[in-house]
Amino acid sequence: MAAACSFSLFALLVFSVTNVPPLVRGLSPVPFIVPVQRLVNTSTTGHNSVKVGQARLQAFNKARSGDFAASVPPAASLTDQIVTFTINPVVDGKNFSLIVDTGSSNTWVGANPENRLQPGLSLDLIEVTYGSGAVLAEAIEDSVDIVPGLVVENQSLGNAIASEGFDGVDGIMGFGPVDLTEGTLLADTEATIPTVMDNLFAQGTIPNETLGVFLAPTTEEDPVNGELSFGGIDTSKATGPMTFFQSTLPFWAISQSATFGGTTIMNTTTCVVDTGTTLLLLPDDSFTSYQDLTGATLDATTGLLSITEAQLSNLTTLSFIGTDINGETQHFDLTPNAQLFPRAFNTEIGGSADDIFLITASSGSTAASSIGCIMGQSFLQRTYAAFVTPDGDPGAAGIVGFATTPFTDATTN
Ligand SMILES: *[C@@H]1O[C@H](CO)[C@@H](O)[C@H](O)[C@H]1NC(C)=O
Ligand SMILES: *[C@@H]1O[C@H](CO)[C@@H](O)[C@H](O)[C@H]1NC(C)=O
Ligand SMILES: *[C@@H]1O[C@H](CO)[C@@H](O)[C@H](O)[C@H]1NC(C)=O
Ligand SMILES: *[C@@H]1O[C@H](CO)[C@@H](O)[C@H](O)[C@H]1NC(C)=O
Ligand SMILES: *[C@@H]1O[C@H](CO)[C@@H](O)[C@H](O)[C@H]1NC(C)=O
Ligand SMILES: *[C@@H]1O[C@H](CO)[C@@H](O)[C@H](O)[C@H]1NC(C)=O
Repeated sequence: MAAACSFSLFALLVFSVTNVPPLVRGLSPVPFIVPVQRLVNTSTTGHNSVKVGQARLQAFNKARSGDFAASVPPAASLTDQIVTFTINPVVDGKNFSLIVDTGSSNTWVGANPENRLQPGLSLDLIEVTYGSGAVLAEAIEDSVDIVPGLVVENQSLGNAIASEGFDGVDGIMGFGPVDLTEGTLLADTEATIPTVMDNLFAQGTIPNETLGVFLAPTTEEDPVNGELSFGGIDTSKATGPMTFFQSTLPFWAISQSATFGGTTIMNTTTCVVDTGTTLLLLPDDSFTSYQDLTGATLDATTGLLSITEAQLSNLTTLSFIGTDINGETQHFDLTPNAQLFPRAFNTEIGGSADDIFLITASSGSTAASSIGCIMGQSFLQRTYAAFVTPDGDPGAAGIVGFATTPFTDATTN
């Protein structure tokens, strides 16, 4: 089916005093900053994270080719991945833990049967399969309180009847472009369902349809380790200027090539920028080149690439290169440290404490595929990202922005 499935107080004050656009009621600070929770699945393996990433990539390619009909059984559960990022909106007095997903666009709750909304009066059904889970839900309309002051009125959302693949969470808040909702409303498969971002903009709650995503690397510390900003970019989280790349519908997908230590390992490939995938997935041949250049071996126990201390000292920069909207060549880099799987979590994925695993996996697809690569959390934990729908026009191709953060060069792993 369709979807392939410490903001500083100072900055807050500056925004509220100098940056309140006329559309925003009261003294609400813009952008709205919403904390992101990090869930770690301590009983999974690296294999599962690879499997989920590959299943998502397959589902992206299906949606890209307009194949909204094939209802394939999910290959893996989304929450089998080692890390999932969630936010906690309140609907009808209930607090829900929803996966933050820029790779899909429907918002729904009720994965846990004990935490569902009252059945609605409408008989409209929504079905979404993600390659890594699926949901059948009734379409209802309700207001969604993301945080105080940031309330989406009359949001059409799914109230699950049955779902598969969402252990430990209540559903998804979809931040992908609205086109990805096409085919999910069973009564009218041509229809799209306005997303949370679309409604916030249409209702004048946010001055522009911009979502900023800031994620910190996965460490053993505070599970609140990221934030979303609604209606603008949180410049306090960036250490450099934003660079914008044209995205291609129906995804947040940009054209990138990649080099490792100056050697091209990926020719220009369409990459989905996806908060719903843990790892960094490269086309098969690029993955093989990366493995050859790093000398890594594929570890059978975890399913991840593994390197020795000697190979670690030899690891160099992995750069993603693209042409920005001004026609300039730009690159965003993963330092050697950023290419390491967080060592604090080695044992959670089936490895041992002193192993050194890498965050790169094979996408199971070639560079020539419609979509060959996923820039997942591993990339986003080192780079601020903004997802912009120009003029709030759902028909317009969006823009993805990147900026460096204090974590770009951090040695946390
Ligand atoms: C964690 O992953 C395991 C293994 O894939 C899976 O069975 C389990 O449901 C997941 N747990 C949660 C809370 O997501
Ligand atoms: C919702 O639940 C989360 C996690 O338990 C908690 O951190 C948050 O404060 C709750 N939010 C509200 C509005 O109750
Ligand atoms: C929400 O729907 C109600 C009932 O149709 C309507 O009166 C109200 O104006 C809507 N609110 C917004 C913000 O669109
Ligand atoms: C969105 O609005 C905010 C607040 O007015 C502003 O700072 C920002 O530049 C705007 N962003 C875009 C992409 O228009
Ligand atoms: C990139 O494209 C060139 C020209 O087609 C080809 O020779 C080269 O092998 C490709 N490199 C990679 C890493 O795919
Ligand atoms: C270090 O990297 C270079 C080039 O990437 C490679 O030729 C060499 O074999 C590597 N050495 C080790 C110890 O891995």
